[in-house]
Amino acid sequence: MVVVGAGQMGNGIAQMSLLAGYNVTLVDINDDFVGKGWNKIDVGMKKLESKGTLPEGSTAASLMEKCKKSTNIASAVKDADIMIEAVIEKMDVKKQVFKTAGDNAPSHCVLASNTSTMSITEMSKDSGRPDKCIGMHFFNPVPLMRLIEVIYSDHSSDESVNIGIEFAESIPCLRGKRYVAKVLKDKPGFICNRVTAPAQIYQNYVFDKALDEGFTWDQLDNDSRGGPMSMTVLADYVGIDTLYHGQIYYSQTLSPDFAPGKVISQLFNEGKLGAKTGQGFRDWSKGRPKPDKTAGKAKLYNLKFPLAIMVNEACRVLEEGITTTYKIIDDTLMAGMNMPGPMAANVKTWQNQVKVLEELVELTRKEYFKPCELLTSGKWVEYI
Ligand code: CAA
Repeated sequence: MVVVGAGQMGNGIAQMSLLAGYNVTLVDINDDFVGKGWNKIDVGMKKLESKGTLPEGSTAASLMEKCKKSTNIASAVKDADIMIEAVIEKMDVKKQVFKTAGDNAPSHCVLASNTSTMSITEMSKDSGRPDKCIGMHFFNPVPLMRLIEVIYSDHSSDESVNIGIEFAESIPCLRGKRYVAKVLKDKPGFICNRVTAPAQIYQNYVFDKALDEGFTWDQLDNDSRGGPMSMTVLADYVGIDTLYHGQIYYSQTLSPDFAPGKVISQLFNEGKLGAKTGQGFRDWSKGRPKPDKTAGKAKLYNLKFPLAIMVNEACRVLEEGITTTYKIIDDTLMAGMNMPGPMAANVKTWQNQVKVLEELVELTRKEYFKPCELLTSGKWVEYI
């Protein structure tokens, strides 16, 4: 198999594919990028070796021998059965990868994109094999997050999606059991990111308010303790550029309310992209930052709002036929973000969420937060 893009996502996908027993070619635009990705995998493999948790009969060296490096997509894919691209979230770059791979890979080779948001249908237009193009969306950090979403474009064949699902199920996860979600429609953000995306509209509102009112990120993070990472640390971890490009894409495809706020735009324009550049909201030069729990609270962020936002968006996901049950949505969120899904917990209390959303529209003037028809009718509880 071939992984195009040796960054954080790409090297994680390659490492887990090597552990599954596949021969992998890791591709990037220059030797330096490929070398860095390869070394990261090597470090990970050696760590597993020292713990004695590599697959039986293998060593870090024997697995790394199966990881080839390349800077040429055309030659890398010539014997491939599957290619997964994890390059920058720019449509024209991804389209070019699909075209080059489509022109050069064997006719049976499935071409997959690890995009977090973008249209697989559009990406695969010039591939010459749209029926063999699918989405395979991994979560960050790939070795530790259990979810892989396998996505139908408008033209993917059932056969290609089934190959993707079989491949995804064969990929180990270092923590917990792999969960593969089939995504039936090629809609922005698919399931997990779509359900959580509109919470970014609220976060942008809160980030900008915190800046305007002079609060620190520690104070803001103390408003939202609960998840495995605080709000600004997770934003840095995901990458400010990923958030920024995603919000632009959602603003063009879902609603203008998604447009990046002042804080995210400023960080992006200053190249403060988070963990990957050593600086974002936080300083990452000494490793993952630990927010100061004693700094007090900004009292700007209220957890009841993102919860209501997620319930509403999950109803839209059901309305649009992206998946079929609210249980799949809950399981997908747990596997992709280690966060309990919001639906089962709201079967009896959803009317409260309608009121919370109306309050949020008043507060932020963002129309996108208006409760959708499937939520207000209460009919979503039938999607079990
Ligand atoms: N190879 C080998 N071992 C590895 C490894 C690798 N590549 N990566 C991690 N490990 C090991 C670590 O060395 C560590 O080992 P020890 O326990 O022996 O020290 C172990 O795995 C656990 O690693 P961490 O200590 O880093 O893990 P943690 O307990 O701090 O948890 C976390 C980290 C899982 C990321 C947790 O903080 C979390 O769940 N955060 C939320 C992440 C999240 O929401 N991700 C989704 C983002 S959205 C997204 O990805 C979508 C998108 O499209 C952008």
